[in-house]
Amino acid sequence: MLTLVERQASRPIREGRIASEDRNELTPAQRVATERLLAVIRAGNIVVLKAAHGAGRTTVLRAVQAATRGALIGAGDFMGVLAGHQAAAIEEAFVSLMDRALDHHDFVILDDHHLIAAVVKDCCYARRKMMDIALTAILDRAIARNKQVLFAMDDNNAPRPVESRAFIVEIETFTPADYESICRAYLGAAAARRLDYAEIHRFAPELNAHQLRNACVWLRADCELDTGRFTEYLTAQNMTSNVELEQVESVDWKDLKGFDDVIQALEAKIALPFENRALAAELQLRPKRGVLSGVNYFFALTTTISPGQRQLLLALRAARSAAARPL
Ligand SMILES: Nc1ncnc2c1ncn2[C@@H]1O[C@H](COP(=O)(O)OP(=O)(O)O)[C@@H](O)[C@H]1O
Ligand SMILES: [Mg+2]
Repeated sequence: MLTLVERQASRPIREGRIASEDRNELTPAQRVATERLLAVIRAGNIVVLKAAHGAGRTTVLRAVQAATRGALIGAGDFMGVLAGHQAAAIEEAFVSLMDRALDHHDFVILDDHHLIAAVVKDCCYARRKMMDIALTAILDRAIARNKQVLFAMDDNNAPRPVESRAFIVEIETFTPADYESICRAYLGAAAARRLDYAEIHRFAPELNAHQLRNACVWLRADCELDTGRFTEYLTAQNMTSNVELEQVESVDWKDLKGFDDVIQALEAKIALPFENRALAAELQLRPKRGVLSGVNYFFALTTTISPGQRQLLLALRAARSAAARPL
């Protein structure tokens, strides 16, 4: 049987390319955020959209722009204005960018504000706090002119002048329905129908829209695409964990002497969901990935097992020792 890479490599070079147009029907989490933003924009002058990288921040902003006809600006516009200033005049360039946009529009949407903020947040930066002054000037002027500004940024703290004035909206964490919505945009209808999104989400709950899109782009030519092949791709791309396995010393169950309860919890919450997906789905167990670090160890110690899970584990153990016994 061909491996994942061999299957892909056997396709003609252009066959797998898909048009890079973004068919952006919003996912449920994105739709909720958009609706909240549109409601909040009716109420306040300063609004913040916070979202993890890849949650679809820009996608949501485009939807807000389409509904409001605001001006959407971002990193490219900032670099354009900075080119006309001295390279170090970051705050001045930012003020120029915002002032120009606010001169021409009543509603300005600034994407990726955290990228600009990161340049001036470094502890070695000579003009620390200057950005707070620039922001205060921009916001005070915008409010005085009854203009509106929407800042979009990652999910860390917004700069204080913004945080203290703004209504804050977030894009919620993706659920299986969000995964499905994104996959349907890039896969053929039949393949998209065959996937079990709850299973994919249980397998890799932290995927962002970029990763889901890439997975679909890679897999869309596979006529036999199913959930197993999708999760196989995720495993091959290390998308199921943020841990470098090579850096982790392997530990066997029998090394954990005197921790029977912990072992039971680990088997229920970690081993079983990997080993038996159907049962894990039935019992609503999600695989806990990662190393047995302090945090996970604590988690394991504090995890309780239901009587049903305990019974199941005993059966699983009995089956394992029976399988291990020589005939
Ligand atoms: N609702 C969606 N439907 C289809 N593709 C989406 C959707 N949301 C995001 N994507 C795709 O995921 C990628 C990242 O989206 P983007 O909005 O740029 O995320 P962010 O700004 O949070 O990094 C883009 O390629 C985009 O087309
Ligand atoms: Mg973006």
